[in-house]
Amino acid sequence: MMDTEAQKKAVGEAAAALVEDGMVVGLGTGSTAACFVRALGARKLDIVGVPTSIATAELAQSLGIRLGELGETRTIDLTVDGADEIGPGLALIKGAGGALLREKLVWEASKSCLVIGDAAKHVKVLGKFTLPIEVVPFGHKTVHARICDVLAEFEIGIAPILRRKDGQPVKTDNGNLIYDAACERIEEPAPLGAALKSITGVVEHGLFLDLADKALIGTADGVVELEP
Ligand code: A5P
Repeated sequence: MMDTEAQKKAVGEAAAALVEDGMVVGLGTGSTAACFVRALGARKLDIVGVPTSIATAELAQSLGIRLGELGETRTIDLTVDGADEIGPGLALIKGAGGALLREKLVWEASKSCLVIGDAAKHVKVLGKFTLPIEVVPFGHKTVHARICDVLAEFEIGIAPILRRKDGQPVKTDNGNLIYDAACERIEEPAPLGAALKSITGVVEHGLFLDLADKALIGTADGVVELEP
């Protein structure tokens, strides 16, 4: 029987086994993606990794994985990344680690995207986990008010909370701020995502829709594969 940590390791290793010599590989962010990056590093393949955060770049470098920048390598063959929730149709919430913008840029530039997670990440409806919304620092309270208006249109009444660490607002790798929205249930992720994205000052949100081609989910008994 595999516990959560063993499940993360198992999906990370299963994903690393799919990488072949010569590939350009998008490297996700978070504890599950780190399992993948470690397993990939151990394979000592001749690949180029495109990291989705400074933390992942540092980890990959420490393992001897050659790195390239998004747009400076040829097309990314495969991106492997974790998620906070994996819902129906492989709709995802991502961004608890604050890397959602770079992650989405890398995902969208990839021929194929694989999401990996432990069993707890697999949900019937998105929204129990907070939805991160990255905003520019300038005038962010005004942006916050507009986000609240949009959420109210979707009958989400709770105001998003500015993400803080040690009392200070968290800055993303891009120098932006994050508001976390407790949505509870996101029945229609596509219109919500589009409405949030239309707000001036919102840089990105953590809904990843129609992006994952496959999921590897760790369960107590082993790794299962899901498709949209
Ligand atoms: C990073 O910004 C996130 O999108 C992570 O991929 C997500 O939070 C999953 O992280 P864990 O694998 O640590 O749960």
